[in-house]
Amino acid sequence: MTPGVRPLIAGNWKMHGSMAEAEALAGAVRDGAAGLPADLLVCPAFLHVAAVARLLGGGAVAVGAQDCHAAAKGAHTGDVSAPMLRDAGATHVILGHSERRADHGETDAVVRAKAEAAAAAGLVPIVCVGETEAERLAGQAEAVVERQLAGSLPEGFAGVVAYEPVWAIGTGRTPTEADIGAIHAVIRARLAARFGAAGQGMRILYGGSMKPGNAAAILALPNVDGGLVGGASLVAADFLAIAKAAG
Ligand code: PGA
Repeated sequence: MTPGVRPLIAGNWKMHGSMAEAEALAGAVRDGAAGLPADLLVCPAFLHVAAVARLLGGGAVAVGAQDCHAAAKGAHTGDVSAPMLRDAGATHVILGHSERRADHGETDAVVRAKAEAAAAAGLVPIVCVGETEAERLAGQAEAVVERQLAGSLPEGFAGVVAYEPVWAIGTGRTPTEADIGAIHAVIRARLAARFGAAGQGMRILYGGSMKPGNAAAILALPNVDGGLVGGASLVAADFLAIAKAAG
């Protein structure tokens, strides 16, 4: 944790659930959210954002999306813009997740343009970075993360960074605490060098197989200011237990 920074626990629901299941999950998170030592955010699929935002009604649990287009509007069949998400009740948007980078060929430049669009629409961008297993084994993890940060964060960035090693996502494997701490320290140094005091206080989340059982140890590390949680965020009790572990 970073002194003076309130942790953020963000749930990335990915492409899961029916409308009814999304609403039930959001309701269960809301009902357990009182008094937790972290801000809470849930990020449903596009189709469920408006319904979940309506249900949560601007209360303690915020709503975000998992992507947005770089343009505010236009002829982009199948895409959703940042102003549309803001209008639907979202306050945050995850950008550059490794699944978007892999499935949709998103480059650092694309992610950067999306982060600019999100900020212009009043959304808080959560920009994801992280190395593949091959890159880690080749000793390149820090260099990859530094390159992604340099390319993906726009000038004046005022959002959240999430470090998600690709090989830890959905696998049940996590880096050692020393390895998480080392990468988060590198990210902090880069943010501070580029954004000054704002970079010192910027939230840096860890993501990748975060669970109730490992959350307390990870969240206690210096420069770990919360979590981006996939699988465990689909079970309200697990998600809330992770948030509790931030205290
Ligand atoms: P996981 O996913 O918690 O299921 O590993 C994290 C993420 O992809 O954001």
